[in-house]
Amino acid sequence: MADLLSNYSSKLEAVPPSHCLPLHERPVDPVEIVNTIPVIDLGKAKGDERPAVVQQLMKAFEEYGFFQIINHGVPEKLMEEAMKVYKEFFSLPAEEKERYAKDAANNTATGAAKMYSSSAKHYDSEEHRYWRDVLEHSANLDGKDRETWPDKPSRYREVIGEYSDELRRVSKVILGMVAEGLGLEPGFFDKGLGQRMLVNHYPACPDPSLTLGVGGHCDPNLITIIQQEVYGLQILKDDKWIGVEPKPNAFVVNSGLPITVISNGKLASVAHRVVTNTTHSRTSIGTFICPENIVEPAKALVGPGNPPQFKSFNWGIDFMPHYLSKKSVYHAALEPFKIDA
Ligand code: OGA
Ligand code: NI
Repeated sequence: MADLLSNYSSKLEAVPPSHCLPLHERPVDPVEIVNTIPVIDLGKAKGDERPAVVQQLMKAFEEYGFFQIINHGVPEKLMEEAMKVYKEFFSLPAEEKERYAKDAANNTATGAAKMYSSSAKHYDSEEHRYWRDVLEHSANLDGKDRETWPDKPSRYREVIGEYSDELRRVSKVILGMVAEGLGLEPGFFDKGLGQRMLVNHYPACPDPSLTLGVGGHCDPNLITIIQQEVYGLQILKDDKWIGVEPKPNAFVVNSGLPITVISNGKLASVAHRVVTNTTHSRTSIGTFICPENIVEPAKALVGPGNPPQFKSFNWGIDFMPHYLSKKSVYHAALEPFKIDA
C-alpha cells in the first residue's frame, strides 16, 4: 500500500504524527497574500507590444521567478474540464489509485503514470511527510505514452490529451519570449524538451500550522505552468514568504533551476512552497517542461568578460539523481555544477 493521503484524510480529526513537521519547518509566521506577482498578457505577445511584453516577462523572472499569464488562448472550458477530471481522479476509490501507486523512495522520473503520497524528496527524514498526493506522468509529443495514462475517469485521456497539447503550445510561446529576452536565437528552446503532467492534491487539513502541502523547493525542470483555483502557493521573495493570490483563468508560471544555468545566472529560480487550509482541498495541475539532455550556459551568453558560471551537465543522468537525493534544498542542487569564479 502506498498510503495515499487522499484515501484517509477526510476521516482525520488531527494531523497524524507522521505529518507533523519539526518546529523549524512549520508555517507559523503570518504570510501576506499579494496581488503584486506580475501578470503577463500573452495576447499582446504577437503585435507591436511584443518587445515590451518580453521585457515585462524577463523582469518578472528576474525579480520574482514567477508570474501569471492571461489571454493565453487555452479555452476556459478545457481548463475547467481538466480540473474536474483531476478532482474526480483523486476521489476515486483507493483500489483504483493504488494501480499507480509508488513509494516516494522508489520514485524515478520514468514516463508511466505513478502516484505517491507527500514527498521525501526535499526532506531530511521519511518520518515527516507533506500533506499532498501526487499523480505524475509524461505527456510526450507523439502521444504514444497516452496508453499508460489513467483510464479513469473515463474521459481522462481525451481531456488531458487536449490539455497537455494546449499547454505545450503555451510553453513554446513563453520559452520563445525567454529566448528573445536573453538574446538567443528564436528556436533556442525548440529541441530536446520533454513534458510531464504533475498534479498535486492537497486535502483539507485539520491543523495547517503543523504541516505543509509541500515544503520550500526550487523546481528541477525548465519552466512550470500551474493551474490552481484555491490559495496555497507561497514564494520566497527577499527572504520572506509571500502568498500568490489565485487569479481566475490564469496560469502561474515559474522558472526552474536549469533556466538559471542556461541564462548563465541571469534568471533566478525561486523557492516556493504550499500551505494547507482547514476547509478546502486544493488541486493544482502542473505542466513541467523538462530538458532532455545537456544543460549548459547558452553559448551566446558566454565569452570574454562573461565566463560560464556552470559546467555542462546531462539533466537526467547527472542532475536529477542529485536533485532527488535531497540535501539539495532550494538552490543547492546546482552546487556541484557551479564553476568557481
Ligand atoms: C510543485 C509545486 C505548486 C502548487 O509541484 O513543484 O511547487 O501550487 N506546486 O501546487
Ligand atoms: Ni514546485
